[in-house]
Amino acid sequence: MTATTTAERPQQRPSVYSVRQELPHGRPYDLYYAEKVPLFQVFERAAMAWDNRARSGMLRNLARSIGIGKPMQAAECGIFRGHSLVACLRIARDLGIPVNFIGLDSFAGLPSLVEEDLKVAPENALYRKKVLFDDTSLEAVNELVTSAGFADQAKLVRGFFVDTLPTLSENRYDFVNIDCDLYAPHIECLEYFYPKMNPGGIVFFDDYHSHDFPMAKSAIDKFLEDKPETLLHLRFGPEGTNHTKCYFEKL
Ligand SMILES: C[S@@+](CC[C@H](N)C(=O)[O-])C[C@H]1O[C@@H](n2cnc3c(N)ncnc32)[C@H](O)[C@@H]1O
Repeated sequence: MTATTTAERPQQRPSVYSVRQELPHGRPYDLYYAEKVPLFQVFERAAMAWDNRARSGMLRNLARSIGIGKPMQAAECGIFRGHSLVACLRIARDLGIPVNFIGLDSFAGLPSLVEEDLKVAPENALYRKKVLFDDTSLEAVNELVTSAGFADQAKLVRGFFVDTLPTLSENRYDFVNIDCDLYAPHIECLEYFYPKMNPGGIVFFDDYHSHDFPMAKSAIDKFLEDKPETLLHLRFGPEGTNHTKCYFEKL
């Protein structure tokens, strides 16, 4: 057996969730950000699909050319420090696609576990003992969004989904990123957004293949069991604990 040299050892770098700057989103992709590459790809796909839909129809095309067309409508459920949100906004900006993004989070971390969580959560999961993802704030995310130049395109909504989703104004959606780990939040978001998705709109799931949060898969499978949509799965680079992601396109 040969000894591993320092140069060969995988770098001990912090999780992508602890980055304090914007996530790089462009090509060539960095393997370090492999966990986020599927989101970048799928958001780009949703934005291009929106663009095709928006261009079909002469009147809409004319309205858009004089700047009065409706922008792409997107939401992220679980934004934590806002890095995925800003990365998606940057992708839309690079593509020249106008977008309105709603970013929802408690800004107080994950809610309490429910029975479905406790049934499948690994025994040693940290979130059995303490609240995760509470080290953020709406003000800090607002600052990040504003400094990146997206103050007019992102609306942040603070509170638990069960309270905030019913307060959103009526809208149709082209892209929704569900990244909220636990069982009940997935069901709440799916029940709210599924009927509001435009045909061809995309719902992206960050945690379906997560080893730490297997309740995400239980919730998504339960919700989709009587729906016609099928999940598509994708991964960039080698498998990691949460590197494969999935999404569906609303029929
Ligand atoms: C993994 S983090 C999101 C990471 C973020 N999407 C990113 O890529 O940078 C999960 C977030 O979901 C939020 N969350 C989970 N359940 C929630 C609920 N029921 N209501 C509001 N926020 C919730 C947590 O507060 C946490 O910030």
